[in-house]
Amino acid sequence: MIEFLVDLIQKAGSICKVEQSRLLPSDVNFKGRKDLVTTVDKKIENFIIEKIKTKYPGHDILGEETGRSSFSSDYVWIIDPIDGTTSFLHQQPFYSTSIAVQHQGKTICGAVFAPRLDELFYADQDSGAFLNGGLIRVSAAEALINSVMATGFACLRADAKPNNLSYFNKIVPLLRDIRRFGSAAVDLCYVACGKLDGFWEMNLNSYDVAAGAFIVEKAGGKVCDFNGDVYFPENGIISANPSLINQLLEHFK
Ligand code: IPD
Ligand code: CA
Ligand code: CA
Repeated sequence: MIEFLVDLIQKAGSICKVEQSRLLPSDVNFKGRKDLVTTVDKKIENFIIEKIKTKYPGHDILGEETGRSSFSSDYVWIIDPIDGTTSFLHQQPFYSTSIAVQHQGKTICGAVFAPRLDELFYADQDSGAFLNGGLIRVSAAEALINSVMATGFACLRADAKPNNLSYFNKIVPLLRDIRRFGSAAVDLCYVACGKLDGFWEMNLNSYDVAAGAFIVEKAGGKVCDFNGDVYFPENGIISANPSLINQLLEHFK
């Protein structure tokens, strides 16, 4: 299954890269005041779904743009065709395609591909986590002051209260630095490969994080909700290496 997944996500990413270069204003629609979707999001999701249905006709599918296909299989494919649509629309490189496969509710493989960054992250239940074929591990940072972390502001897009700004203002002064790249899936994969030491965000959905969270865990990292429990992303999501996860969690409880 991982071979099919890796091949499929690379094909999807290649289409994204071409389509980004010829995006038109007429390709953009609004799901909310600041929540964008393009014709390419839908095109990529339909492409992915068609390939999955051909290869695994009995499996369920959950796509960000098309929803849940059925509830009839032990297997479900969780798809974010473009994670970071705002970056994609603004001709920036920090976007990705994210696909995870769950069996009886447990993720068994996942892949995140950022075509403009040429970074392909994946992990299988029987293997470690990889970036472009090389094994990856989380960072060894042991103190917040020596760490660079990422976050995002889906909460502001959703006009949610409370939102991330209070956590941001409290935590950022404790860090070496902060990044807001624009794709939660890439943020999580950057934790997995040690380019980030931690990540947190509110108001995300399963399709934003399913693959990235699995890749982090297979790379020796930790993922939890804002209470230190497993109910992410609905109760927020925090990810870091094992040395930092509790230091970070303290600022959310
Ligand atoms: C978004 C990205 C972004 C995060 C937003 C997500 P989308 O995904 O992951 O980094 O901050 O909350 O919604 O909407 O572009 O698929
Ligand atoms: Ca997303
Ligand atoms: Ca998306």
